[in-house]
Amino acid sequence: MNIKELQEKILRLKKETDTVILAHSYQAREIVEIADFTGDSYKLSVDAKNTTSKNILFCGVRFMAETAKILSPDKRVILSHKDAGCPMAEQMDAEMISAVKASDPERVVVAYVNTTAELKTVCDVCVTSSSALKIVRALDSDKILFIPDCNLGDYIRRNVPEKDIKLLQGGCPTHAAVTPKEALAAKNEHPDALLLVHPECVPGVVELADYVGSTSGIMEYAKKSDAKEFIIGTENSISEHLQYDCPDKMFYPLTKNLVCRNMKLTTLPDVYNALTGRSGEEIIMDDALIAAARKCIDEMIRLGG
Ligand code: 13P
Ligand code: SF4
Repeated sequence: MNIKELQEKILRLKKETDTVILAHSYQAREIVEIADFTGDSYKLSVDAKNTTSKNILFCGVRFMAETAKILSPDKRVILSHKDAGCPMAEQMDAEMISAVKASDPERVVVAYVNTTAELKTVCDVCVTSSSALKIVRALDSDKILFIPDCNLGDYIRRNVPEKDIKLLQGGCPTHAAVTPKEALAAKNEHPDALLLVHPECVPGVVELADYVGSTSGIMEYAKKSDAKEFIIGTENSISEHLQYDCPDKMFYPLTKNLVCRNMKLTTLPDVYNALTGRSGEEIIMDDALIAAARKCIDEMIRLGG
């Protein structure tokens, strides 16, 4: 079966099963094409909350599907590939953060949404890369503990210098592996290109950027810009999507290594099999966990909206 035929089958099955497909922008083009909603993790959280379908198929990683389940507990939420997790989300747990809180109780705990549902239960508010600055500025407290990504945390700290922000050592293995040397090499190779990076990159890379933002932020910036060439400092699927969307512009991945293998686990056949119940995993969480984790996600939507 060719890709078009498989996509058509998926579109039919989606209707028959009353399923909405949410796909993060790091998913492959053939998946993004059959999705009902695509975007960054903030946008997909809001889309999950607002959807009226009985079932949600989430093409992305586990914490995103968990967020969808927390926001739509009455819906059946399926993660398209059972092994698709975000390594950063597993770096800290509730016990560890409770201990840090106990030693410094004045701080408001701000969690990147890339955390487990269990960890969210001991946090005060979530943020995503697109909503972080707005939410941290809007918080009443000036004393913050930001977890788990110290690179995103450093970016927030530089942009909100009026607040005292404590960081811990966590981060995205894919983005944090990009070096300033690689960014300089890409700029030398493409001297007319603007460098657009995700704030999960290390500070030395972020400092070299012309624009810093979430996956959707990067895409919007590139589409609206009058510039013709861009070096993309986030997962390489974003360079690919942009190249399709803007054929009169040129997009260069900052490095060929900017690949999130977890995001890439889901294939189009996986999407089909998840719709027919042959693969994927239903997200099951008890009501108490949903209620406890939901508070900081609701707070994110309230302050970030
Ligand atoms: P966005 O919020 O930009 O979608 O980022 C999610 C993510 O996992 C980036 O690595
Ligand atoms: Fe997690 Fe990094 Fe992959 Fe995003 S790119 S899902 S932060 S491992």
